[in-house]
Amino acid sequence: MNKRKVAEGVFWMGAVDWDRRLFDSLIPLPDGTTYNAYLVEGSEKTVLLDTVDPPMVRELEAYLQDIPRIDFVVSHHAEQDHSGSLPMVLDRFPEAKLLTTPKAKGMLMDLLRIPEPRFVTVEDGERISLGNRTLRFLYTPWVHWPETMVTYLEEERILFSCDFFGSHIAASDLFVTDKGRVYEAAKRYFAEIMMPFRSVIERNMEKLAPYDLRMIAPSHGQVYDDPGWILDAYRDWVTGGPHNLVVLPFVSMHGSTRRMVDSLTSALIARGVRVELFNLAVTDIGKLAMALVDAGTIILGAPTVLAGPHPLAAYCAFLANALRPKAPFLSVIGSYGWGGKTVETLAGLIPNLKVEVLDPVLCKGLPSPADYEALDRLADAVAGRHRKHGFA
Ligand code: FEO
Repeated sequence: MNKRKVAEGVFWMGAVDWDRRLFDSLIPLPDGTTYNAYLVEGSEKTVLLDTVDPPMVRELEAYLQDIPRIDFVVSHHAEQDHSGSLPMVLDRFPEAKLLTTPKAKGMLMDLLRIPEPRFVTVEDGERISLGNRTLRFLYTPWVHWPETMVTYLEEERILFSCDFFGSHIAASDLFVTDKGRVYEAAKRYFAEIMMPFRSVIERNMEKLAPYDLRMIAPSHGQVYDDPGWILDAYRDWVTGGPHNLVVLPFVSMHGSTRRMVDSLTSALIARGVRVELFNLAVTDIGKLAMALVDAGTIILGAPTVLAGPHPLAAYCAFLANALRPKAPFLSVIGSYGWGGKTVETLAGLIPNLKVEVLDPVLCKGLPSPADYEALDRLADAVAGRHRKHGFA
């Protein structure tokens, strides 16, 4: 493929990974992904921003055949999907200096064994001139690792944001054409990657606020040539309040917990609360993570097995604890055969969640009329709190 023009003197030189279906051996990628590297040509210097995932190194190598000189390589983020082809680039352009944050320098030396003399570390806010173009580096920690930064190309008002505002989409269009599709993919990406660092992301958003961005060029997915809507979406995900929504991940072994889930769902809907169910035996955890971005209440449906919660419910609790959604309320429902410590075990798995735990409803065997009444009371409690806190 030929390099593709993003703006005057700015080119995309990335790789589209149509086939990939899993990231970090954990995160589903239903739409594949891209690894976006960019070339910025100034009148005096040329810069490569990031690289591609190592399995696609040959694609980047092919673009570089026609590039006579690279003065600087910018590594925004040490994770290998962007940094993994740096060794090839640095071998090919022995004169190039590698520009990073001091933290990224250490990580790249550890992860890729890049020799120290190749690095030049940049300060937060530092600018470098390429002749007729100027790059400004802005530290943006925790998007997605602690060492991350972004680059602002002043003359073209383009933000090269790396993981920030990224989306896992493989597409042949360079720019966003289907905002609905990208919104969904970007929200999935935010939920899985950014949500745990929401307060830091908020500070990073504030840091970007003074810049009049004409484009955002992330390292995954398509380029935003009309970035206002994705900035608004991030503001909602980061600082917007929880929604009038119950997220109800559950697992059922013999149908009792499922009956409770269905009864509670009906009771919540009757009280004007939206509900999203996720059967943990078959669910896409990315969809679950997206729902957690907006959840007002999380209710985990967990049958008891081997004296504790079903392992899929325990996995879900562990995941929610890691993702740190903003939902302020949580409860547990489920069926047991003869006893166990399901609620206690689940409570021990969510120390990061600052939630009020609403009265759990556990029943022995099939739910009885009294159990259904308890589920109705739980629905009352949820609806009442959502109303009180103005969740919309
Ligand atoms: Fe796309 Fe955190 O790497």
